[in-house]
Amino acid sequence: MDFKNKTVLITGASSGIGYSLAKLLPKENCSLALLSRSYEKLQSLVDEIKSDGRIAKAYRCDVAKPDEVKNIFDAVKKDFGKIDIAVLNAGISSRTEIKNYSSVIGKEIFEVNTLGIVNCVEQLLPDFMERKEGMIVGVTSLAESRGFPRSGFYNASKAAASLLLESLRVELKPFNVKVLIVKPGFVRTPMTDKNEFHMPFLMDVNKASKIILEGIKKEKKIIQFPFPIVLGSKIIKLMPDWLFDFLMSKELPARKN
Ligand SMILES: NC(=O)c1ccc[n+]([C@@H]2O[C@H](COP(=O)([O-])OP(=O)(O)OC[C@H]3O[C@@H](n4cnc5c(N)ncnc54)[C@H](OP(=O)(O)O)[C@@H]3O)[C@@H](O)[C@H]2O)c1
Repeated sequence: MDFKNKTVLITGASSGIGYSLAKLLPKENCSLALLSRSYEKLQSLVDEIKSDGRIAKAYRCDVAKPDEVKNIFDAVKKDFGKIDIAVLNAGISSRTEIKNYSSVIGKEIFEVNTLGIVNCVEQLLPDFMERKEGMIVGVTSLAESRGFPRSGFYNASKAAASLLLESLRVELKPFNVKVLIVKPGFVRTPMTDKNEFHMPFLMDVNKASKIILEGIKKEKKIIQFPFPIVLGSKIIKLMPDWLFDFLMSKELPARKN
């Protein structure tokens, strides 16, 4: 994939991985449509990109709201003529103690991490399928491999998103529409800054976004990193349930009677 003269849309571009990718991409001579709910942060990034003579525009968009997604994607198509590559990166996480289990939190996580991708793909497909070109890059996570204690909503939302993207990858092949899935391990961003637990092989966000960019250029079906976490997640996935339960329960506080 050559980015030259392409229009790249990024959701969740105001922070972390999306922000870092948006800073790297102008060097590839593409135009950028940057989306998130924090318009001011996006606008200052756009100003920076434009001062280097590149084309970028900021759009306030909540990916959890289908009507808003439709309006904004229409606006991007009008402003840029078309979308070539959509990096669907917006996401939220949460660690929830079982005593605070709440459908409100679960709904919010699924609405952004899973349905956010569903909403964006809906706006991309008709045009991509008609043009017989286009690329969808969905950011999920290696955390999808099992249901980890306290992170069930996040793990499940990412697993659902990965399976959806996988099915789209196969179905869209005859239309020459590429679907790539990005599965990072731990990356240092505002999302992980709030984690109090040890995050093995925590990666610098600029390094992560360079790996993602190279993966997109090579059109890798799955862009996953770092290797030790990829390997670890494969082992954990194959682990028998009794062993998984035993190891995970060691993480939980002792039950008070
Ligand atoms: N960091 C990691 O270790 C890690 C590991 C695996 C996967 N990931 C995934 O990578 C993606 C980026 O995460 P990050 O670490 O860069 O997190 P981050 O720094 O918290 O950035 C998340 C981005 O998503 C946007 N966002 C959140 N809710 C949104 C909504 N409803 N509509 C539109 N935009 C929304 C945020 O912008 P606004 O708040 O301004 O809307 C922000 O730009 C996420 O999908 C995350 O699950 C991260």
